[in-house]
Amino acid sequence: MEAINAPKGVPDYVPPRSRDFYTVQEQLSAPARLSGYEYIELPVFEATELFERGVGASTDVVQKEMYTFTDRGDRSITLRPEGTAGVMRAVIENRLDKGSLPVKLWYRGPFFRAERPQHGRYRQLQQVGVEVIGSVDPIIDAEVIAIADQSYRSLGLQDFHLDLTSLGCSNCRPTYRVLLQEFLKRCDLDQETRARAELNPLRVLDDKREVVVAQLVNAPLMIDSLCEQCQQHYDEVREYLRVFGVSWNETPRMVRGLDYYTRTTFEFVHPGLGAQSGIGGGGRYDGLMSELGGAELSGIGFGLGVDRTLLACEAERLTPLRKGILDVCVIPVEAESRTQGVALLVQLRRAGIAADICVDNRSIKSAMKVANNTNAPLVLIIGPDELETQSVIIKEMSSGDQQSVLAEPTTLIPQLQEMLSTLREEQS
Ligand code: HAM
Repeated sequence: MEAINAPKGVPDYVPPRSRDFYTVQEQLSAPARLSGYEYIELPVFEATELFERGVGASTDVVQKEMYTFTDRGDRSITLRPEGTAGVMRAVIENRLDKGSLPVKLWYRGPFFRAERPQHGRYRQLQQVGVEVIGSVDPIIDAEVIAIADQSYRSLGLQDFHLDLTSLGCSNCRPTYRVLLQEFLKRCDLDQETRARAELNPLRVLDDKREVVVAQLVNAPLMIDSLCEQCQQHYDEVREYLRVFGVSWNETPRMVRGLDYYTRTTFEFVHPGLGAQSGIGGGGRYDGLMSELGGAELSGIGFGLGVDRTLLACEAERLTPLRKGILDVCVIPVEAESRTQGVALLVQLRRAGIAADICVDNRSIKSAMKVANNTNAPLVLIIGPDELETQSVIIKEMSSGDQQSVLAEPTTLIPQLQEMLSTLREEQS
């Protein structure tokens, strides 16, 4: 039979790299959990209309990249391309917006975009995200950005930067839009770009073609057209960012791929990744809740790309990621010691020590090879002598030192725990 491959653009994470993927996912969500954000688990598919209304009908995501199908009940369903619209839907449906505000949530999981696959751009992508709903306080903007910043730093990443700007609000953006459209009318643009300028002029600022870029040097920028409230809000966000110890680049030409952003908007960029350098991004969204049938509440959040953050860690050669997942490997040397080995395994696991046992009656040499491959720092060997004296040999893999210890759990477990904590201290 012919083997079957994964669909194009869909990554597998298999051991040992899956360890790194898991570590990245855990670390990216740790700062949000430490800051009191509650977990929200969301469906992977939703009504198509949610994304059409939430993400914006003129975006590439909605126009070209959604996995949409009709279900058996003739409903149009879409695999979620992003998380924010789904969180809003769930908040409204479960009336979280009627409780104590702001609501602070975090989520993680796969999202789906039918993009052209390349290094760092996948059709199934993984994100860790947060959303804070029901506060316009600039402390929240700074907190959300600082949490993202801390998430990357906790992995040891250093070569990334934060791009920041304000996209204004429903007061000042329409005036700016007209200003920009008037400017674009005076430029020499092709038919398609003209059409884009009519529909979504901000997106023209994102055009990378030299002929266009050259003409846009003097284009008016949103940041120079902010209304007084937006200006003050942005000033305060930056003031609090300083207190949080986060630095940034002013990026007035930033264009995000989703339509809902207002005011504070940001992206984390890692230059080591080539074309797909955005490792995370987010911003404030004022009209999204009401657009989806909820109250007039503002929100802000981010989505951090787990796949790309892993690539960034690899680009920075962050080797501490790759640690083994086992503490101890048990080797029963003879068939007779297998029962003793399993009994020991049970004791270890109950005590919270990550342990595995060598199976299939291997020779001691071959079993040691298997144990070595697991990266477990300690190996417990039970041979005929140990069976007779009811003891085990503890072998420390890094030094090769070994000692015989009574197999009695009240002696053995504390000793192993102490050895493991010393080894961890030495490693860190
Ligand atoms: P986004 O910028 O579309 O924002 O995606 C966030 C991150 O997901 C990107 O910075 C990137 O790291 C990763 N990502 C996006 N597309 C791909 C892909 N095809 N392959 C690999 N990684 C990808 C959002 O999704 C918003 N919902 C974020 C947000 C939350 N804004 C406010 N709240």
